[in-house]
Amino acid sequence: MNAEIEEIAKTTYELLLEGNRRFVESELENDPDFFKKLAAGQSPEVLWIGCADSRVPANELTGTKPGEVFVHRNIANVCVHTDMNMLSVLDYAVNVLKVKHVIVAGHYGCGGVMAAMGSKQYGIIDNWLRHIKDVYRLHAHELDLITDEKARANRLVELNVIEQVYNLCKTTIVQNAWKERPDLEIHGWVVDIGTGYVKDLKVSCSGTANLGKVFTLD
Ligand code: CO
Repeated sequence: MNAEIEEIAKTTYELLLEGNRRFVESELENDPDFFKKLAAGQSPEVLWIGCADSRVPANELTGTKPGEVFVHRNIANVCVHTDMNMLSVLDYAVNVLKVKHVIVAGHYGCGGVMAAMGSKQYGIIDNWLRHIKDVYRLHAHELDLITDEKARANRLVELNVIEQVYNLCKTTIVQNAWKERPDLEIHGWVVDIGTGYVKDLKVSCSGTANLGKVFTLD
């Protein structure tokens, strides 16, 4: 059997293990101490909160290596203030790792956002997507005017990211951290999976100025 046919005969699962071996070998070729250094500890400056979609991997999209980005992903990059998983990641990243940037990264063509725009039931996930329906409700006056469905979905992707940035800013975790280090920034990005490029939505926050009185905590 030649090498190519052998490759095809391998299962996806086997290819993962082989991919891992290749990754390790190529990293060691560049830097024989790469993994020794990684094992010594992490001090990433960035927390990435992105969609679980397989097409939006934090490291590959940003040209970063293991150790550089702390990552949390869920369906449609939603930041809910009762989600212990997200809050734990945020608290650890902000208060222990002392990251300087938190990036909420959505992406065009997000299945979660598109599902939230419709009325079809998908099961348990419908409860999660309700948070995005709430974003739609907040911005219905703008979204309802967009007649093209794809354009409307793209805009909801952007508005969802913006609302999640604000949701992070509303947490005690971020507001307390700002009291000591105003250089902590929360950013909103959208990845265009059709081009690979990131669009910075320019909604970066490093204070409570835009949140409104009711969300500003002493
Ligand atoms: Co998505």
